[in-house]
Amino acid sequence: MLKARIAVLVSGGGTNLQAILDAQNSGVIKSGEVVLVISNHADAYALTRAKNAGVEGIYISKKELKTQEAFENAIIAALEEREIDLIVLAGFMSILSERFTARYDHRIINIHPSLIPSFCGQGFYGLKVHEAALAKGVKVTGATVHFVNEIPDGGEIIAQKAVEVQDGDTPEILQKRVMEQAEWIIFPQAVERIAYEISNSN
Ligand code: GAR
Repeated sequence: MLKARIAVLVSGGGTNLQAILDAQNSGVIKSGEVVLVISNHADAYALTRAKNAGVEGIYISKKELKTQEAFENAIIAALEEREIDLIVLAGFMSILSERFTARYDHRIINIHPSLIPSFCGQGFYGLKVHEAALAKGVKVTGATVHFVNEIPDGGEIIAQKAVEVQDGDTPEILQKRVMEQAEWIIFPQAVERIAYEISNSN
């Protein structure tokens, strides 16, 4: 059984990328292997994490390529060149077009830091999600792993985990708890599950 070849798309710190790389080392992820990390920010710390793990990391600049189409074509070329089977969005803060998502139907997964359908869709990313949850006064939030389709955060749900909101939480404190208690656990598990399915169908 061949391992699924995984590309992780990132924009920032890359703690979810790290959780996936750690899960490979610990054996939680055994049906797939991260062979490529793509960042749309040159200075993303996630690229350093890739380097430290001996994984190829590349920067693709939307600014330089100017259009969404050219940006996505560059990503597609990188993915095809390395025969990628599964695309994992781990804090990738750029919305992909329908042309892109349709090409990789059920081959792109994303982690979102809320219980979808709450606090999701266009404009809800990173700390903004936790700010909105606190502003609403919800007592429970969490994280969701889902397939990516043409609707932002609208694809089929793969996994969810709830996390308690506590008195005195700031967006930063809540973000950290959601990462520790949900994201870093359910994301590697979901990557393994989908990689397993892909590697068995290859
Ligand atoms: C994570 O909390 C992830 O769920 C969120 O951004 C953070 C990235 O952190 N993603 C979104 O909001 C996507 N809409 P990381 O770079 O440390 O993994």
